[in-house]
Amino acid sequence: MAVVVALGVSVIVAAEQAPAAPPGKKLYEAKCIRCHKDLDPTIYEDMTWKRWLWKMKDKARLDNEEYGDLSDYLKGVREAAKSRKAR
Ligand code: HEC
Repeated sequence: MAVVVALGVSVIVAAEQAPAAPPGKKLYEAKCIRCHKDLDPTIYEDMTWKRWLWKMKDKARLDNEEYGDLSDYLKGVREAAKSRKAR
């Protein structure tokens, strides 16, 4: 019985935390860091990065939705870094 209650609680916690971490971040950590220990998304320009991500799509076995999530996430990371530098 205690096990059932504990499981129920952890499911609720997981559901509440889900929106906080963008799906792209999880994908990046799960699919890319496997081969690239600490690859920094900000070291390439948008176009260069796009080309690499397209190449890596097969290597990391991303489907189209994951590819989209990842592109959005990495773009966000780059834009955040740019606006930090601009200030
Ligand atoms: C199976 C291993 C593997 C996976 C998974 C993988 N890569 Fe790569 N990646 C490589 C290899 C090998 C290269 C070397 C260049 C080549 O393939 O032409 C590379 C090169 C790169 C490069 C350019 C070179 C560099 O090291 O700066 C980028 C950027 C990159 N990968 C991003 C990613 C991203 C983002 C993901 C996740 C979607 C990813 N990779 C997943 C193996 C992998």
